[in-house]
Amino acid sequence: MQAGQDARKNIAAPFVLVLPDGAIAGYYTLSATAVDIGEWPAQTIRKLPRYPLIPATLLGRLAVDRRYRGQGHGRYLLADALSRCVRSEIASFAVIVDAKGEDARRFYQRESFLPFPDQPMKLFRPMADIAELFK
Ligand SMILES: CC(C)(COP(=O)(O)OP(=O)(O)OC[C@H]1O[C@@H](n2cnc3c(N)ncnc32)[C@H](O)[C@@H]1OP(=O)(O)O)[C@@H](O)C(=O)NCCC(=O)NCCS
Repeated sequence: MQAGQDARKNIAAPFVLVLPDGAIAGYYTLSATAVDIGEWPAQTIRKLPRYPLIPATLLGRLAVDRRYRGQGHGRYLLADALSRCVRSEIASFAVIVDAKGEDARRFYQRESFLPFPDQPMKLFRPMADIAELFK
């Protein structure tokens, strides 16, 4: 499994949702990333220092097994991921996702993720905004 190889090589940390009966309902990965200063919406980076790269956290591969979709597991996995990001001691300006299709894009937009200009499938949610969720 790609996620297992990525984990062994310290490329991405996988987190798996295991149901009480042992079934794997879904999973996601987290990795460090950075986004070129020129990619962010001007409004978002107005008050940031002009470093060429802005640190962020990549939420990858979030998926729920088809059999278990529509039962709140996707939202639970996303909340679990965001809470880990907020608790991290490593600074990160935002959580980034690369939506793999229109459904995924809608899912994230409903969860307050915003698209990057000219990259509608790449979305972000500022960490300051996420931190408010867990206060
Ligand atoms: C997107 C995905 C993770 C959602 O998981 P899920 O367990 O079905 O979602 P939930 O049951 O937690 O739904 C959470 C909310 O998102 C909404 N939602 C779920 N799938 C959606 C979709 N495809 N489009 C729009 N909204 C969606 C639900 O209606 C729900 O909102 P509500 O409570 O107001 O009704 C799942 O459909 C999936 O694995 N898709 C394939 C992989 C994928 O697209 N991953 C995204 C990363 S690229």
